[in-house]
Amino acid sequence: MTDCAVWWSEPITATSDALALLDPTEKERYGAYRRHEDQRRFLTGRVLAKTVAAHRLGSTPENIHFDASCPDCDKPHGPVRVPGAALALSISHAGDRIGVAATSGAPVGLDVEDASRNADDSLISYALSEAEQRTLPTDAAGRARAFFTFWTRKEALMKATGRGLRISLKALTLSSADAPARLLVSGETTLSPDTTRLRDLDAGPGYRAAVAVLTSENVDVTERWWRPGASLDGQ
Ligand SMILES: CC(C)(COP(=O)(O)OP(=O)(O)OC[C@H]1O[C@@H](n2cnc3c(N)ncnc32)[C@H](O)[C@@H]1OP(=O)(O)O)[C@@H](O)C(=O)NCCC(=O)NCCS
Repeated sequence: MTDCAVWWSEPITATSDALALLDPTEKERYGAYRRHEDQRRFLTGRVLAKTVAAHRLGSTPENIHFDASCPDCDKPHGPVRVPGAALALSISHAGDRIGVAATSGAPVGLDVEDASRNADDSLISYALSEAEQRTLPTDAAGRARAFFTFWTRKEALMKATGRGLRISLKALTLSSADAPARLLVSGETTLSPDTTRLRDLDAGPGYRAAVAVLTSENVDVTERWWRPGASLDGQ
C-alpha cells in the first residue's frame, strides 16, 4: 500500500514569518507576480509544501530547501523536490484553493481547478479523446462539471510524470467522469494503466481536484485542511 497525503489551504496572509520561509530564488518569483492573489497562492503553496516536507522528514520548515529546476530550461519553476529525501511532492493552486500532495517517493501529481469556469468546445476538443467526448452529458452545467473532472485527472497525471503540458492530453483515455477515476488507455510511454493510480478529491464547492500516483500498489489517499501556524499532527 502506498500512502498519499493531500493537504488543502486557503490563501495565507503574507506575514513576515511566512515570507521568511522563502529562499532568495522563491522571493524573486514571489516578487515577480504582478497580482497580489497570485503572490499569495505561490506563498501558500511553498509554505504548505515546506511544512508538509518538514513533518514527513522530521525537520522544520526553515530547514527545507527545494530544488525546483525545470527539466526543460533549468529555470526554478519546475516541480519541487528535496534532493536525497524519500519524498515526492506536488503543489497546485486555483482561486482560493492551494493543495500539496505528498508520498514517500512514488511520483505524485496534484491538480485543483476552479470549476465555475466555462468548458468551451475548443478546450474540450483540445483535451479529450473522441471516446471521452462521447461520454459528456449534453446539458451545459453537467458538461462543464464532467469536463473539469477529466481535466483535473489528466493534469494530475501530467504533473506526476514531471513532463507537464508536454504530455499529449488526447493520447490518454480515462474512465468517464461519473465512474471511479482510472487511466484506461495511454499513448504516452511515461504512463501505463498498470502503474498509474488516480483519485478524485474534494477541494470544496466550486472546485474539482484529482491526484495521480505512479505505482502498481493500491493507494491510500487522505485529505486534510491546514491552517497556518498549526502543526500537521492531530488536525
Ligand atoms: C506543470 C503545469 C501543468 C502547471 O499547471 P498550472 O495549472 O498552471 O498550475 P498548478 O497550480 O496546478 O501547478 C503549479 C505547480 O506545478 C509544479 N510544476 C511546475 N512544472 C511542473 C512539471 N513539469 N511537472 C510537475 N509539476 C510541475 C510547480 O511546483 C508549481 O508550483 P509553484 O508555483 O510553487 O512553482 C504547467 O505549468 C506545465 O506544463 N509546465 C511545464 C511546461 C512548461 O510550460 N514549462 C515552462 C517553459 S520551460
